[in-house]
Amino acid sequence: MRIDIITVSPELIKSPFEYSIIKRAIDKNLAEVHFHDLRTYALNDYGKIDDYQFGGGAGMVLMIEPIDKCISKLKSERDYDEIIYMTPDAPTLNQRTANTLSLNENMIILCGHYKGVDQRVRDLFITKEISIGDYVLSGGELGAAVLCDSIIRLIPGVLGDETSALTDSFQDDLLSPPVYTRPAEYKGLKVPEILLSGNFPKIDEWRNDQAYEHTKKIRPDLLED
Ligand code: ADE
Repeated sequence: MRIDIITVSPELIKSPFEYSIIKRAIDKNLAEVHFHDLRTYALNDYGKIDDYQFGGGAGMVLMIEPIDKCISKLKSERDYDEIIYMTPDAPTLNQRTANTLSLNENMIILCGHYKGVDQRVRDLFITKEISIGDYVLSGGELGAAVLCDSIIRLIPGVLGDETSALTDSFQDDLLSPPVYTRPAEYKGLKVPEILLSGNFPKIDEWRNDQAYEHTKKIRPDLLED
């Protein structure tokens, strides 16, 4: 999988790709991530990429021309399955979307900034818009990092144990059950007896019950779907 990220702050978004599971995926050539500084495509030598909005109002808007130049260059080099725009006014990312996107070969992610991008960018180039939650960030970079992490970890071969993504929270619309490790007792707090029993069918049943009860309490909306 190749992901091209278009951003006004490449330095802001690079570090999540330099650690842990995502770094390993990149080192194993299972994922390639490229960062494109929008200022490279600026309109003038001062790096102009944004302007005031027509009709008045606070905040700068990213202009269509630098974005067009950047996306057109990338599209001339390969085909893309999706051109995604990170913005709060979009459907919220969930596990189902991450699962679907993890099957793609090539994707562009455009990070919004300031007041966002000229609407014509969205109309002309964008195939999918994603928010990471009902709150406003300073830009789309952190959202893009979250999106990439949620996708890259699902690529076959990235996680050591293939089943570990299957038992994640949300994969079956349930939150995960609680987990414990040694010691079996700490300051009087005991690990549930069933987990020490070695009776794996019963352990599975207990975990399913716990996942259901936890979901009912914390996120009942997941059970309504
Ligand atoms: N840019 C600003 N806020 C955002 C959000 N909640 N999700 C994705 N991109 C954003």
